[in-house]
Amino acid sequence: MAQDQKRTVQPCRGLLGEINVPGDKSISHRAIMFASLAQGTSRVVGLLRGEDCLATLKAFQQLGIKVDEKSADELVIHGHGIHGLAEPDDVIDCGNSGTTMRLISGILAAQPFFSVLTGDQYLRKRPMKRIIDPLTTMGAKILGRDAGSKAPLAINGGGLRPVEYHSPIASAQVKSALILAGMQIEGTTTVFEPHLSRDHSERMLRSFGAELESFSGGVRITGPVDLQGQEVVVPGDISSAAFFMVAGLIVPGSELLIKNVGVNPTRSGVIDILQLMGGSIELLNRRQASGEPVADILVKSSDLKGIEISGDLIPRAIDEFPVISVAAAYASGVTTISEAAELRVKETDRIAAMCETLGALGARIEPLPDGMRIEGKELLSGGEVSSFGDHRIAMSLAVAALRTSSGVSIADTACTETSFPGFWELLSQVSRAT
Ligand code: S3P
Repeated sequence: MAQDQKRTVQPCRGLLGEINVPGDKSISHRAIMFASLAQGTSRVVGLLRGEDCLATLKAFQQLGIKVDEKSADELVIHGHGIHGLAEPDDVIDCGNSGTTMRLISGILAAQPFFSVLTGDQYLRKRPMKRIIDPLTTMGAKILGRDAGSKAPLAINGGGLRPVEYHSPIASAQVKSALILAGMQIEGTTTVFEPHLSRDHSERMLRSFGAELESFSGGVRITGPVDLQGQEVVVPGDISSAAFFMVAGLIVPGSELLIKNVGVNPTRSGVIDILQLMGGSIELLNRRQASGEPVADILVKSSDLKGIEISGDLIPRAIDEFPVISVAAAYASGVTTISEAAELRVKETDRIAAMCETLGALGARIEPLPDGMRIEGKELLSGGEVSSFGDHRIAMSLAVAALRTSSGVSIADTACTETSFPGFWELLSQVSRAT
């Protein structure tokens, strides 16, 4: 990934138009993974071709899976069932993607061969014990750097037994890693979580033919499962749409229709939060695609007010807090985000990153151990900031810039390719210049 690409975003007079955002990242990863473990051919339409998902795709090609690239966003994947993977002859590079590393670890822990996973400088700092510990309880043999807590990880797969695991955190990556290990072995694996995390794995595995029991507080799967190739239609990513939702709300004179966005209730916390803040957001044309709820989202500029955010809203909006903090910086009154310590172990420490960068632009924002306190203002001043190499920080700062007095220069912006190719072009396409 090219470092240090600097971009300047000027204030604008409103965002207008109809847009589509790229495919959902979480669903795209899972479509590639489950199609690779299924028997037969799967077609994936609307795939996100961001760097994270391309890392997943390359990983399965290294594991022996044949993929036909039909067009920019359509793949045909030829799976040979859960026993159809082969030992990779080189290290698998997960790039910046925590989902790639944690979910593939669950898959490879049960495969009868040796594999090594690494990632970029950011991913190699992120906590892996959260999956290594429960997988080790299942009998997995996983070695890692820093006393077995960080990548690179070396996995000697096979010999697993089912487990009942009470996860201390609401994490879809942890839950999915255990489901993916458990579904390959004889017996029932159960994962309990403190709040429901995103349930794309459960929904998509069911559509591939697996039986999972979701109950209040957790999910249970009995293996081994027999997955059958499917067609998966990937909706637009609500996490990418969130940048345009906040931009449309905070910049006076805006009206944006964001088409074909996944609105799974385990992901739609950002809509609830922005509506609670007084944002005008309407869901139109609600429908289903491949077992996921989808809608078009109409956003109109609104006067936002500060609110308190905690509890089960946190996992339902976990990736959106950088841009929610931007909304809060322009709201009247105080917004408090708490019980969100997970933000400290994302692609970067997102609490520290947003406090430093929005603070530098004149926002009244202070860190809490598990969140942030933000007192809104009419206007921010603008200035020079860095994304810290985190795609969602870069895009949140671009949104913040739209209502500054003098614009914002953002360093290290190439990282937006991780999840949102075309972000800068789309933003300038819908922004009315001052
Ligand atoms: C993801 C789960 C979340 C989220 C990440 C994608 C997934 O992470 O932040 O961007 O696709 O399962 P956690 O499981 O660590 O909360």
